[in-house]
Amino acid sequence: MNEITKFGARYYGPGYTWSAYRELQNEYNNFALKETGKPWWEEFAKRLRRGHKVLDLGCGSGVPARFLSGHGLRVVGVDVSGDMVTLARKQDPQGVFFRAEMDEIRWPMYSFGGVCSFFSFLHLPKRRVKKLIRDIHEWLLPGGVFAVTIVEGEGEGLCENFMGRGIPIYLSYYKQPEFCDMLRVAGFTVKDTKRLEVKTDNFDETELFFLASKTGTLGE
Ligand SMILES: C[S@@+](CC[C@H](N)C(=O)[O-])C[C@H]1O[C@@H](n2cnc3c(N)ncnc32)[C@H](O)[C@@H]1O
Repeated sequence: MNEITKFGARYYGPGYTWSAYRELQNEYNNFALKETGKPWWEEFAKRLRRGHKVLDLGCGSGVPARFLSGHGLRVVGVDVSGDMVTLARKQDPQGVFFRAEMDEIRWPMYSFGGVCSFFSFLHLPKRRVKKLIRDIHEWLLPGGVFAVTIVEGEGEGLCENFMGRGIPIYLSYYKQPEFCDMLRVAGFTVKDTKRLEVKTDNFDETELFFLASKTGTLGE
């Protein structure tokens, strides 16, 4: 697991994320390509219909976005890293991508059929994640779906050796009930959760997946 070495939200700074993904962009892109064997994207896409608009928060190099566009979804991606946005635009020419912090752009109510965040809440302080989940609920259409993957653990703060590469980055970890509560408090119904133990060359971690929906019926 990528260890937090300095605990507390005061260590948050988007500059860490920006620099880390500048250095790790190609490595992370290769990592994302290996994610295709995991169920997250499929579970999300199958609850939506062709033509639905989806928001991908922390879209990275656009590997999930390309998958979602391939399923006929209209993808809007947001990432704080300009390098990742450049890769995403190449990887998924059908998607529309913005460089911003994921909670910085205010979307109108009922903008999306689906919202997803694959391993990007990992880098945001919990307090902001709580607020963002409430906003996502508002941005979704009635019956809309929210898919999110996070990493199991406790606490938040600065990790000074991300991916075993000596790179500093902010991390926040959650227990499964803690995250379910955040979804429920925001008004979501949790439809599915999954847990996957992962071993990479540099670290081991337990990945948690949540699929939640907003009350109502999602139209065409
Ligand atoms: C672990 S990568 C995951 C990328 C992509 N979701 C995927 O699964 O391939 C995390 C991504 O979240 C982005 N990110 C982290 N903090 C962010 C923030 N505050 N706002 C927007 N993007 C952020 C990073 O730049 C990075 O591209």
